[in-house]
Amino acid sequence: KKTENQMLVIFGASGDLTARKLIPALFNLYMAKQLPENFVVLGASRSNLSDEDFRNRVVFESEYLKEKIKDLKEDEINSFANKIYYEDLGGDYDTDYAPLRKRVEALKEKHNTSGNIMYYLSTPPTLYETIASNLADAGMNTQNNGWKRLIVEKPFGYSLDTAKELNDGLHKYFTEPQIYRIDHYLGKETVQNLLVTRFSNSIFEPLWNRNYIDHVEITNAERVGVEKRGGYYDKSGALRDMFQNHLLQIVSLVVMEPPIGAEAEEIRNEKVKALKSLRVMKDAETLHENTIRAQYVSSVVDGKPVKGYREEDGVDPNSTTETFAAIKFYVDNWRWHGVPFYVRTAKRMPTKVTEIVIHFKQPHHQIFSEAGMQRDNKLVIRIQPDEGILIKFGVKVPGQGFRVERANLDFYYSSLAETYVMDAYERLLLDAMQGDATLYARADEVEAAWEFVDPILNYWKEGKDVRMYGYAAGVWGPENSDELFDGHGFWRNPSEN
Ligand code: BG6
Repeated sequence: KKTENQMLVIFGASGDLTARKLIPALFNLYMAKQLPENFVVLGASRSNLSDEDFRNRVVFESEYLKEKIKDLKEDEINSFANKIYYEDLGGDYDTDYAPLRKRVEALKEKHNTSGNIMYYLSTPPTLYETIASNLADAGMNTQNNGWKRLIVEKPFGYSLDTAKELNDGLHKYFTEPQIYRIDHYLGKETVQNLLVTRFSNSIFEPLWNRNYIDHVEITNAERVGVEKRGGYYDKSGALRDMFQNHLLQIVSLVVMEPPIGAEAEEIRNEKVKALKSLRVMKDAETLHENTIRAQYVSSVVDGKPVKGYREEDGVDPNSTTETFAAIKFYVDNWRWHGVPFYVRTAKRMPTKVTEIVIHFKQPHHQIFSEAGMQRDNKLVIRIQPDEGILIKFGVKVPGQGFRVERANLDFYYSSLAETYVMDAYERLLLDAMQGDATLYARADEVEAAWEFVDPILNYWKEGKDVRMYGYAAGVWGPENSDELFDGHGFWRNPSEN
C-alpha cells in the first residue's frame, strides 16, 4: 500500500506515550523506509519547549531510543530528528489554534508534505472534544486540500453514557471514517492471526461452534502492579483498563461470524454483531454468580517484598477498585448458544501472559476408560509472550493396553525467525497513515462493548454486599475464582504447556 506524504500532529506530545511508543515506532518505520518521502511530526502541548528541546527529549536523550540509535551515524539520526518539530500551545489546549495552523502551513511549505494531516490525541480524554472543536474553529478539519484524520487513545469513555457523549462530541467535527480509535491489542500479530487461523483454514471453522466447543477461556495476566499510574488506575480498574477494550476486542474476534471480505467495514461489521450478541447481565443474582473482583495484597515475590494495591502511591487506602476481574458470560446466537466464556485479567500475577484456550467437548462415547484421563482437546492461542498456537490431543502410550496421554502440536511464531514482527504501535500508525481502519475500533464497537460492561461496573460500584477478594501479589488471583466454573472445570494454569 502507498503511504502518501503527510504531517503527524501529536497533541500531548510532552507526555510519556510520545517518547515511549510513538517516536520509537516512527523511528522503526523510518529505518524500514516505510515513512513517506515528505513527512513531518509536529508535537504540540502545554509545555514550553523549543524544537531543540523536544528533539533532545524524544530522540537524542530518550531512554527509549538509546539502544536503537547507538550504532547509527550522526547524519542518519539527524535526518530523522530533523523531521520533528514542536509547537507550544501556551499553557492551554482550549485556545485559538490560529498560531498552530500557521505553523502547520509553514512546515507544509517547507517539507512539501501536502495537506494530509493526522492528528494524534495523546492527552487526557476530557480534552478530546475541546481539541477537535478548536481544530474545527481554525478550519483545520476540512478535507478540501488533503485528508484529515484523528487518532484517539483509550479510554473511550468511562461508561456507556460518557462513551456516547465522546463519540457524539467528536462527530460534530470529524466524520466516523476520519476517526481512528487505537486499541494496541489489535496491533499485536497474534491477535490479527486469530482472523487468519479461523478464516484461512478449513480445519478449525467447522468445529468453531457449540456442537464441538465446551467452553472458551481467556487469560490476560501481568506481573507488574500499577507502577506509577496509581492515580489513573484507581479511577479505572481492571474492567475499564483492560476488559472493556483489549479483552472484548479479542472476544469479538473469537466470536464473530466469517466476514464477507477483509475490508475494514466488512470485518468491523461482524465484530459489532459479535459484541452485540454478548448476553448483558441485568439482575444482581446473575451478576453475583458470574463476576469476581479482587485486589492484590502485599506479599513477597522472588524474595522481595511487594506492596499491596491499597498501599500503592496514588491509590485510596480504602479503594474498592479491582486489580483482578473474572467474568463468565454467554453469547446469544446460533453459533454459541450455551457455551460459557470465562475471561480474566489482572495485575500482579505470577507471569505476563495472554492466551485464549478453546476447550473442545469430550468424545461422546468413551471407549478408553482409564480414570483421571483428560479427554478434552484444547486449542491454545498464545497472544504473548512465546506467540504461537498449540493443539493438545490424546495419544496412545506405547506398550500394552490403551493408555492415553496428552501430546502437543505446537507452532511458535519465533520459528519464523526471519520475519520482522512490527511493534503494535508501528503497525497501527502505518495503517492509519495509509487510511486502513481495519485494526481500529469503530464507534458502534466501542458502545457495544460498554453496553456489556456498564451493568457489571454499576453492580460493583453499588454493592456493599459485592465480594472483594484479596490475592497475594504473585499468585493466580483469588482461589474463589474457580467458583465461576461451577464444578465444570477451572482456570488453566498458562505456564503448563
Ligand atoms: C494498557 C493498560 O492499555 O495495556 C495497562 O492501560 C496495561 O494497564 C497494558 O499494562 C498492557 O499492555 P501489554 O501490551 O503489555 O499487554
